[in-house]
Amino acid sequence: MPHVVTDNCRGCRYTDCVASCPVACFHANEVRVYIDPALCIDCGACIPACPVQAIVEEFDLAPEQQHWIRINAEAAQRYPTLRNRLAPLDGAAALRQALGY
Ligand code: F3S
Repeated sequence: MPHVVTDNCRGCRYTDCVASCPVACFHANEVRVYIDPALCIDCGACIPACPVQAIVEEFDLAPEQQHWIRINAEAAQRYPTLRNRLAPLDGAAALRQALGY
C-alpha cells in the first residue's frame, strides 16, 4: 500500500525523504510534502529517512490519521513534483525537538 506523509512534516520539510525516493513521487508546497499514491512503489525507503517520523505506510495509519490518505492524493495533484533535497525550513530544528526526535 502507498505511503503517506502525516502532520509532523508541516513546518519541518527536511526532504531527506525526497532524496531517498527512487520514483520521484513527492510533491511540495511551502510548508511540507505529500506522496502521490499513484507513483509510490511502496519501497519504504522514505520512512527511516525522515528525522521526524512523518511518513507512515498506509496500512499502519491509526484511525485518527486516515484522512492523510485523501490529503496526500489530492495535494499531490495540486503541487509540483520535488526531485531534489531542499534546506529544512526555518524552525525545523525547534519543531523536531518539540516533537521529541
Ligand atoms: Fe517532511 Fe520528513 Fe520528508 S519532514 S519533507 S516527510 S523527510
